[in-house]
Amino acid sequence: MFGRTPFVTGSVAAVLALAILVPQAAAFWRLPCLNKLLVERNDPIVNPGAVSGHLHTIMGGNGFNFTMDYQVARASTCSSCTVKQDLSNYWIPNVFYQAKNGSFFPVEQIGGATIYYLQRRDPPEEKLKAFPPGFRMVTGDPWLRHNNTVVGKTDAFTYICLDYSGGSRGMKERYTEFPDRNCPSGLRVQIFFPSCWNGKDLDSPDHKSHMAYPTNVNFGKCPPSHPVRFISVFYEIIFNTNAFKDQWYDNKQPFLLSNGDPTGYSLHGDFINGWDVDVLQKAIDTCNSASGAVEECSVFKFFERERSQDCMVPPRVEEQTTGWLDKLPGCNPVQPGPERAIQYTNCGAQEKIGAPTKYYTDVSAKNWEYVGCVLDNLTSRTFPEREDFNDLTVEKCIDYCVSKGFEWAGMEYGRECYCGKSAPPQDRMGYSRCTTPCAGDDKQYCGAAQRLSTYKAKGPGSNTFGTP
Ligand SMILES: *[C@@H]1O[C@H](CO)[C@@H](O)[C@H](O)[C@H]1NC(C)=O
Ligand SMILES: *[C@@H]1O[C@H](CO)[C@@H](O)[C@H](O)[C@H]1NC(C)=O
Ligand SMILES: *[C@@H]1O[C@H](CO)[C@@H](O)[C@H](O)[C@H]1NC(C)=O
Ligand SMILES: *[C@@H]1O[C@H](CO)[C@@H](O)[C@H](O)[C@H]1NC(C)=O
Repeated sequence: MFGRTPFVTGSVAAVLALAILVPQAAAFWRLPCLNKLLVERNDPIVNPGAVSGHLHTIMGGNGFNFTMDYQVARASTCSSCTVKQDLSNYWIPNVFYQAKNGSFFPVEQIGGATIYYLQRRDPPEEKLKAFPPGFRMVTGDPWLRHNNTVVGKTDAFTYICLDYSGGSRGMKERYTEFPDRNCPSGLRVQIFFPSCWNGKDLDSPDHKSHMAYPTNVNFGKCPPSHPVRFISVFYEIIFNTNAFKDQWYDNKQPFLLSNGDPTGYSLHGDFINGWDVDVLQKAIDTCNSASGAVEECSVFKFFERERSQDCMVPPRVEEQTTGWLDKLPGCNPVQPGPERAIQYTNCGAQEKIGAPTKYYTDVSAKNWEYVGCVLDNLTSRTFPEREDFNDLTVEKCIDYCVSKGFEWAGMEYGRECYCGKSAPPQDRMGYSRCTTPCAGDDKQYCGAAQRLSTYKAKGPGSNTFGTP
């Protein structure tokens, strides 16, 4: 650290650090979001119907779209967060590493997010309200490049430097900017949303002013202008900055947000309500776990873990967002401040919403067809025959299966080819995260870990059926 004194806690979780500040223990639940849904320049609140200014990592229901309302969110068929009655979306900018030569590389996000729903009331008998249908909000300022000096406001946007090396109760240091030290167990990005509502607007022109923070950001009384108290929402998202521990240079930290902010002060978050509102209200009124274990709330039903982990939305903005990048996607030159960042446009970035990325190959020339992404299982394989190829392509696997007399072919984890005689069990079908490039052709997709990109010969009469 260069002359900055971090707030040090020895607690097991940020919520404990928060709890210390709260007069009386409050009930809460931690909503696990097991994976991200999508990383894309997409922000249906700030830039509806258009490609947004910078990349976001988005969690929640797969109804998420460039233009969306409550009904669209509710029409989701899965969510990367595990509570079935919650099809909301949660998003923040993602984190990049910048190398000395100026190139950028996205920092891997560990899992999805943990969303805390905290029943904070002041006074204690205050009635907490569920977010109404159509409700949405934004907190934070993408153009800010200096410490947020509004009293207490720094508690809303924080970074925790994780270090579990000392055991599970390892050191956690809290910062209001990107820490100037390596975080051995990752960097946890945290956002506390405002909980006080003006009681009438589902949104506002700046997407913020219909909401306000209570006196102490994460607890305290609501102001008279915003007298209606919602349940409090708090995001935690972890990035594996430790992967770059040997690649620091010039005596400064090398990370930045996707909007070109190397300070971290412009951290911001977005929320679109997709809850079954009656269930959320019931949970607020009846769930009283002091430990935050979401399973203790009996009104919730859950998606299967595998289904939540799998839930995704195919990207529609045709631009590179992974691997080494010459510039950040969009028009986001690095702007360290301390003055407010300038908003750039017309820099030649992709501004078109295209067709959804297709994670399969057209093999109709072989008289085969794509069936879908299918779950595999290490101890009970979906297809019996296996052969690995270091130059695997979709065609290569199909040809191999044909040569062995099979009618089903599945590619897994880039280089594994599986063949079968019959359709996979129904409960393994209907997955979507078959997104690993094929070892032999990085423009094709060959499943993923325990996911099979599955193809089959096109019925009797085709040149593959009927031949032994
Ligand atoms: C997003 O909206 C478009 C246009 O309405 C629609 O075609 C598409 O299926 C939607 N995407 C998802 C993931 O629902
Ligand atoms: C910049 O440096 C990184 C890591 O050292 C390297 O992988 C990348 O290819 C370089 N980019 C350019 C444009 O030279
Ligand atoms: C930013 O403000 C917080 C809270 O006042 C303080 O703890 C922190 O040290 C400040 N950071 C810098 C770089 O001034
Ligand atoms: C794999 O399948 C077996 C048998 O159906 C089942 O008991 C086991 O839980 C599965 N493992 C995973 C990781 O799904």
